Amino acid sequence: MVETLSSSPSIWRFNHRRWFPALFSSYKTLFALLWIVVFASLFIWQRNFVDGISIFRRPLPFRPLPRFRPVVFNLTDFGAVGDGVTVNTLAFEKAVFTISKLGKKGGGQLNVPAGRWLTAPFNLTSHMTLFLAEDSVILGLDDEKYWPLMPPLPSYGYGREHPGARYGSLIHGQNLKDVVITGHNGTIDGQGQTWWKKYRQKLLNHTRGPLVQIMYSSDILISNITLRDSPFWTLHPYDCKNVTIRNLTILAPLFEAPNTDGIDPDSCEDMLIEDCYISVGDDAIAIKSGWDQYGVAYGRPSKNILIRNLVVRSMVSAGISIGSEMSGGISNVRVENVLVWNSRRAVRIKTAAGRGGYIEDISYKNLTFENVRVGIIIKTDYNEHPDMGFDPKAFPVIRGISYSSIHGEGVRVPVRIHGSADIPIRNVTFRDMSVGTTYKKKHIFQCAYVSGRVIGTIFPKPCENLDLYDEQGTLVKKSVSENASDIDYDI
Ligand SMILES: *[C@@H]1O[C@H](CO)[C@@H](O)[C@H](O)[C@H]1NC(C)=O
Ligand SMILES: *[C@@H]1O[C@H](CO)[C@@H](O)[C@H](O)[C@H]1NC(C)=O
Ligand SMILES: *[C@@H]1O[C@H](CO)[C@@H](O)[C@H](O)[C@H]1NC(C)=O
Ligand SMILES: *[C@@H]1O[C@H](CO)[C@@H](O)[C@H](O)[C@H]1NC(C)=O
Ligand SMILES: *[C@@H]1O[C@H](CO)[C@@H](O)[C@H](O)[C@H]1NC(C)=O
Ligand SMILES: *[C@@H]1O[C@H](CO)[C@@H](O)[C@H](O)[C@H]1NC(C)=O
Ligand SMILES: *[C@@H]1O[C@H](CO)[C@@H](O)[C@H](O)[C@H]1NC(C)=O
Ligand SMILES: *[C@@H]1O[C@H](CO)[C@@H](O)[C@H](O)[C@H]1NC(C)=O
Ligand SMILES: *[C@@H]1O[C@H](CO)[C@@H](O)[C@H](O)[C@H]1NC(C)=O
Ligand SMILES: *[C@@H]1O[C@H](CO)[C@@H](O)[C@H](O)[C@H]1NC(C)=O
Repeated sequence: MVETLSSSPSIWRFNHRRWFPALFSSYKTLFALLWIVVFASLFIWQRNFVDGISIFRRPLPFRPLPRFRPVVFNLTDFGAVGDGVTVNTLAFEKAVFTISKLGKKGGGQLNVPAGRWLTAPFNLTSHMTLFLAEDSVILGLDDEKYWPLMPPLPSYGYGREHPGARYGSLIHGQNLKDVVITGHNGTIDGQGQTWWKKYRQKLLNHTRGPLVQIMYSSDILISNITLRDSPFWTLHPYDCKNVTIRNLTILAPLFEAPNTDGIDPDSCEDMLIEDCYISVGDDAIAIKSGWDQYGVAYGRPSKNILIRNLVVRSMVSAGISIGSEMSGGISNVRVENVLVWNSRRAVRIKTAAGRGGYIEDISYKNLTFENVRVGIIIKTDYNEHPDMGFDPKAFPVIRGISYSSIHGEGVRVPVRIHGSADIPIRNVTFRDMSVGTTYKKKHIFQCAYVSGRVIGTIFPKPCENLDLYDEQGTLVKKSVSENASDIDYDI
């Protein structure tokens, strides 16, 4: 667009010299020309208006890249070719190796310029910034032969889909400190289509790899980029500390992109996830901490996690999930200012007998649900186990869950909290809720084995299991039926 506009004056001059006298010879031609000019300018004006004034945004053909580290490299310094065909694994590995020698001097930055940089999986190093320039795409090779196998995660005991080894991630890191992945909205594209197809056709013998997986690491920042079409979970921080995820766009098809969760904080503590747009083929976010007996033995909880200012969408699972793998325990999670739209479920806690562990001190505040089937859901019979070695008497403890300022419209079942005699749900609080429903009959606030309270009036009318308090916190009506069950999956 810029080129066309900037080169047009010379074309005009050229045309003008040749055609000017001829045109002037006829009044009609001049009149017609005038009309053409008027219509053309109207057209250009309107196009720019519609494009979001792209003409004013475009004049900078190259946005200077910020410098975060004392030493900065360009991926092309290592022989990479961004044509979408050349395999650049070696260039990435050389770059990372070079940066790994700079740790004591403040580390290094690797700029990935505009282009399509095809690569097999590679590892990051500490004190490294990976910067994806505008229009740069790191493309994952979609042939599993190039993907190294790794041992199962200790807290899962298995690959998630197959026993034994699992594929590593496209971008991987272990035992790192101080890693930044950022950019001017460049993209990491997992080309998951091939993987999803092979998975459905049962052609894979190992669990698919995530797009980005950082393990046993601390001080990680991932921001200002787009992640798309991961083979499996998109962004998987595992047993990490101090992780910030900010301003990401995470995309995968809403259907037929199996297990493409957006972000899976797994046995992590001190995490912030904010300002992201996530629309994927499974949970947008799923907080985890290991699977049954393996997770119990590993014993590393996920805790101190703040999630805020997100727009999320999931047609297969939920916007924000906790579990179902939670055997190391999950506590102190805050979810604030989240919009869940056109989705199957909004916020979901899922677990099962055999998991052990706990889910406690979880608060949801200022959530908006727009056209979702089920708004708030707690499910305690998510019976998916790694093997028969789990302890069926290992009941997870669920308590201290609060929901406040919950609003929405077009919700079929606003609340479905399904505890059981073995896994009762304790100390649940509702305050300030108004969710417009699409289903006018009974059973829209479904409960079983739930105790807790409602403060003030909420809509829809709460189930009888909960105590009622007024706004001042005075008990108005004590529940007599915390174990009553009114769950209906048919609506
Ligand atoms: C990287 O190098 C290429 C080729 O030399 C150049 O076209 C590009 O502008 C450079 N990009 C950055 C971000 O330095
Ligand atoms: C990345 O590091 C892990 C752990 O150190 C190792 O097992 C794996 O083979 C490495 N992957 C690549 C592609 O070098
Ligand atoms: C988010 O990142 C984009 C580039 O990806 C940038 O243009 C935008 O300003 C960032 N927004 C915030 C709030 O940081
Ligand atoms: C970043 O790119 C994605 C995918 O192309 C786009 O959907 C998103 O709006 C972009 N974000 C910004 C801040 O420009
Ligand atoms: C899976 O295993 C079967 C049987 O051992 C083998 O024929 C096939 O090539 C393997 N597939 C992959 C993708 O490794
Ligand atoms: C957390 O990590 C960030 C880098 O992402 C770093 O600046 C900060 O100092 C770390 N905080 C703590 C408490 O270590
Ligand atoms: C992300 O983009 C915003 C807006 O351009 C900028 O303020 C912020 O510093 C960027 N973050 C990083 C880590 O580059
Ligand atoms: C509630 O969240 C929405 C985004 O979903 C945000 O626009 C609004 O400012 C938030 N309200 C408060 C009081 O924080
Ligand atoms: C109930 O949960 C709330 C948080 O939702 C917490 O502040 C309170 O201490 C809990 N009460 C008990 C008795 O555990
Ligand atoms: C409800 O069930 C729980 C757990 O099964 C039990 O401990 C409690 O005493 C029951 N409450 C009532 C009022 O029956």
